[in-house]
Amino acid sequence: MNIKLSHINCFYGSHQALHDITIDFSLGETLVLLGPSGAGKSSLLKVFNLLEIPATGSMRIANSFYTTFNGKAIDTNVINSLRKNVGMVFQNYNLWPHLTVMENLIEAPCQVLKLSKKVATDKALSLLARLQLSAFADRYPLHLSGGQQQRVAIARALMMEPKILLFDEPTAALDPEITAQVAEIIKELADGGITQIIVTHEVDFARKVASQVIYMEDGHIVEQGDASCFSHPKTEQFKAYLSH
Ligand SMILES: Nc1ncnc2c1ncn2[C@@H]1O[C@H](COP(=O)(O)OP(=O)(O)OP(=O)(O)O)[C@@H](O)[C@H]1O
Ligand SMILES: [Mg+2]
Repeated sequence: MNIKLSHINCFYGSHQALHDITIDFSLGETLVLLGPSGAGKSSLLKVFNLLEIPATGSMRIANSFYTTFNGKAIDTNVINSLRKNVGMVFQNYNLWPHLTVMENLIEAPCQVLKLSKKVATDKALSLLARLQLSAFADRYPLHLSGGQQQRVAIARALMMEPKILLFDEPTAALDPEITAQVAEIIKELADGGITQIIVTHEVDFARKVASQVIYMEDGHIVEQGDASCFSHPKTEQFKAYLSH
């Protein structure tokens, strides 16, 4: 059961952000996307839940999704059913400021999955406990620290029971102790079988969580492989990036 991108090209107007991206990795892996600013990491991440629609190429996600891109619009139902399986934790968390933590968690499961409020609330309580957030259920996001908001954003994504979870810079603006906590959460989720794709600038954090690595520059994949790339980079470019 694999996730496969073949020959993906992505444009913003006339600017090509992704060039001929081909990736093939197994469900259950934790794939880390590394590279300098502007390399195309966030753009590539967003392809996995079709927040960015490539101009050409194809994408397969195990047996549940396959499409080729050819400039035609993709059916909204197809996009929505993909997004039920592929959750995203945004860089700035994107929590709803006018809703409490609990309300943030149960909103989508009640609206989209049609869970009863009771079932959703029970589920939220157990996730909040798992992420050490039980004390904050009735708080508003702006009354939480950055690290707490990040964990709430992870809990909210997990409410939908995604098979794949995307993270854009999950440790940006977090101090080292909280970064270590986020790494532990990601490893726990990996042990639970969730596939994760993580954009980060932080090499130490990447080393802790990655089972697969992609290093990009200027919209191209320069190096890809398993976590042994960190100790034995195959390209001079990745070696140089690691030694910064
Ligand atoms: N919405 C957009 N419209 C136009 N150009 C964009 C848009 N989003 C990204 N780009 C451009 O596409 C390229 C890749 O951007 P992307 O955000 O994927 O890079 P990144 O690797 O995530 O960088 P960073 O580490 O700074 O977040 C950059 O040149 C960027 O300026
Ligand atoms: Mg980015």
